[in-house]
Amino acid sequence: MKVAVAGGTGTVGRHVVDALRAAGHQPVVFTRASGVDLLDGAGLADALRGVDTVVDVSSTNTASAKKSLAFFETVTRNLLSAEREAGVGHHVALSVVNAAKVPASYYAGKVAQEKMIMAEPGGWSLLRASQFHELTEVLISQGRVGPVQIVPQMRAQPIAAVEVAAELASIALGEPRGLVPDLAGPRPERVSDMVRRFLQSTGRSRPVLEVFVPGAWGRGMREGTFLPDPGTRLGKQSFDEWLGTAAR
Ligand SMILES: NC(=O)c1ccc[n+]([C@@H]2O[C@H](COP(=O)([O-])OP(=O)(O)OC[C@H]3O[C@@H](n4cnc5c(N)ncnc54)[C@H](OP(=O)(O)O)[C@@H]3O)[C@@H](O)[C@H]2O)c1
Repeated sequence: MKVAVAGGTGTVGRHVVDALRAAGHQPVVFTRASGVDLLDGAGLADALRGVDTVVDVSSTNTASAKKSLAFFETVTRNLLSAEREAGVGHHVALSVVNAAKVPASYYAGKVAQEKMIMAEPGGWSLLRASQFHELTEVLISQGRVGPVQIVPQMRAQPIAAVEVAAELASIALGEPRGLVPDLAGPRPERVSDMVRRFLQSTGRSRPVLEVFVPGAWGRGMREGTFLPDPGTRLGKQSFDEWLGTAAR
């Protein structure tokens, strides 16, 4: 079975590639460096030749609703139409637990992506996962202000990207399933505490300051809107266990 991983070098994408290889498959990776630009479609038709399933874990790093919408709508439109042309039977995508409750900022694009996929007559699977443990690394690199680390006020129930990747690989190797039950991490965390523990675990010490993020997006993060609903399937590895692994 030939599986393509769009965004196969990213935080979750590289683990999807590893999981598919471990299952005996030879996934192909679509990124700009591999000659496929998902935004202008360059290289896509050729790269899809012979592909049975596409796992889309591409992403853009933005908090702008406009930029997020432009990215996810364009990428999803390009992929779905090129897949149709190439006869690809299964499109697998990853979104975020409860993003649809506040379709603002980055989640505006995710919700648009979800709607485009769910409007397809069939041949798709959509998994929603909670924030990755790895998100702390992004927050740390983006939130350094002089000697202080700033972090948005946020509650999350983070999961290891490798566990989400294993689920995506298993979905990709099966029949299309439509909307798959959500997957979240084992326990809720305050994101500022995660950042503090991450800094400590890597021998860094600086004050961590929680900042108020205005608007619906900030309220959603603060109030735990993106926490999983009761009964959601949970992954195994806690944030502290993840901190202790070499995987990060
Ligand atoms: N991060 C989280 O906490 C989290 C939680 C739940 C769900 N998700 C979802 O998981 C998915 C992956 O997120 P991530 O954090 O793993 O992403 P990421 O680390 O930012 O990786 C993004 C990937 O997309 C590729 N890409 C970006 N623009 C491209 C373009 N124009 N053409 C081809 N490839 C392009 C990148 O490769 P190049 O830049 O080299 O082209 C890279 O491989 C997203 O759908 C995200 O919404 C993320």
